[in-house]
Order: sequence, then structure tokens, then C-alpha cells
Amino acid sequence: MEVIRAKRAGACYGVQRALDMADEVIADGSRAYTLGPLIHNPQVVADLAARGAEAVGSVEDICWEGAAAGDASAEGSASAAGDVPAVVIRSHGVTPQVLAAVEDRGFTVVDATCPHVSRAQHAAAELAGEGCRVIVVGEAGHPEVEGLTAWAEEAGGKVDVVAAPEEIPEGLYDPVGVVAQTTQRRENLEAVVAALRAAGLEPIVKNTICSATRQRQEAAADLASAVDAMVVIGGRNSSNTTRLAEVCALTCPRTFHIESADELDPAAFAGCRRVGVTAGASTPENQIAAVEKFLRAL
Ligand code: F3S
Repeated sequence: MEVIRAKRAGACYGVQRALDMADEVIADGSRAYTLGPLIHNPQVVADLAARGAEAVGSVEDICWEGAAAGDASAEGSASAAGDVPAVVIRSHGVTPQVLAAVEDRGFTVVDATCPHVSRAQHAAAELAGEGCRVIVVGEAGHPEVEGLTAWAEEAGGKVDVVAAPEEIPEGLYDPVGVVAQTTQRRENLEAVVAALRAAGLEPIVKNTICSATRQRQEAAADLASAVDAMVVIGGRNSSNTTRLAEVCALTCPRTFHIESADELDPAAFAGCRRVGVTAGASTPENQIAAVEKFLRAL
């Protein structure tokens, strides 16, 4: 059976960078914390925790005797500098308030915010600083969108998060600035901008979309139409992996979304001559390689 990997698959630049940065921090046995799971991949998160990088809900959940005064959990004096735990900021970034809280409490900040996300944060703050009402095209409640909103508000702006043109509030007036969550579809950003123009506005648009998601979806769709079965690897809680599986299933009914090789049932591949493999942006190379090895051995 031939096993073919999609031309673009697996950890994107920002996710790989965050993993590498976390690895570097704990390589010498140092303690580290991540604010929420570093990536949407349960196996990777469990492995990081076992090696010393624990995921916590917020900086207040970190009990460290050297935390800055004023913290309810702080007890005793600051530890030696070498004992200061690092707090790794995830690739989709945090609000300026969270960043300040981490710094105020004396932790070492390892900022693994993806540079594309940082660019979007700066664009949102810049538009707000120029007096624009800021429209964030994205998914309300997503941590990246919360970050973009907070960076713009910190710069004095009023912000609206819209997932689609229908959500554009009434009564807007220029100047209006637009930024997008990095994983948005280009068509959706264009539709929102078109609707703003149709409302008589002249929006200043900062295209902050990162192409990694689209490239993975296009490569997966191409491959899915040319194989007998598709295996999509990634966390079930990863929305980009779920979307990849949906895209593949459109042309390849035998599409399997799995988190690891041990979920694969050899019987499901009976009669297959070509199997495609793709993986979400939170799937590291070793997990993809393990699945490919399993499939090749069938
Ligand atoms: Fe960064 Fe794009 Fe990945 S914004 S985290 S490279 S999907």
C-alpha cells in the first residue's frame, strides 16, 4: 500500500517554534508552566507535563514560594534566581494584562507568541492608536481574538469582534480599521470588508491572515481526491484538524480522524492501494511518522 503525505501537513511554523522554545526551557530540568495547553494535542501536552512543563489555567494557579508579594499563594522569600519558573506564552498570544501579571509575579517570560499573531496584535493596537474603531474578524472567545481585542483596547480603541458580515454592528462611522484572526479564511475577511464598504465606510484593512491553515487545507483536499483513504492526525479538540478531516471527507468518504497510530484498525484499509496522510497544525513530526510507519507495515 502506498502511503502519501500531503504536501503541507503538521505543525506550522508558530506551533513548532513554541514547542522548541518550551523544550529548550525544560531541557536542563528547569520547571516551566504554560498558560493553558501549549498546543491542542493531548499526547504532546502530557509529554511536556511529564518533562516539567505543566499546563495551568492562569498565572494565579501557579504556586511558587517566590511569587511577588500581594499574591495570595505567595509564602516566604524569593527563591534563588536559578529556581525561577518560566511561564511559556502560547503561540496564539495573550492579553497585555496577562503578560503584565506574569511579569509582576516575578516569573521568567518565555514569549512563544507566533510572530504572525504578534503582527496582528500590533496592527490592532496601531489602528486603535490612530483613533479607529477596530473590527476584529474572528471567533469570539478564542484566546487569540481575546488577545487582539485587549491589545486594541489597551491602545484606547473600541473593538467589535465579528465572525461574519451579518455581525457588523450598526451605526459605525469612519475611521474604521479591520484586522483578522490569523486563521480566518481570506474570503470571510473580504466579505466583511465588502459589507463595510457597502455601508458607506472606508475601512483601513490590515490583512493579518496567516497562510499556513489554508495551505494545509488545500494540500489535504488535493490529496484526498487522489487516494482510497485518508488519515488525518491531530487532537479531537483541535479545530483546524477537525476542519482538515471535514475537507478530506468531502472527496474521500474513507477519512479517519485519529490522535495516534494505535487507533488505526487495519481492517479499515482493506482493498486500499493508496492512503493519504495529513495532520493538523498541532501535530508534531514524530506522530505523523508513527502513523506512516504503521500504514506502510499493513
Ligand atoms: Fe502562527 Fe499561522 Fe501557525 S499564525 S501559529 S504559523 S497557523
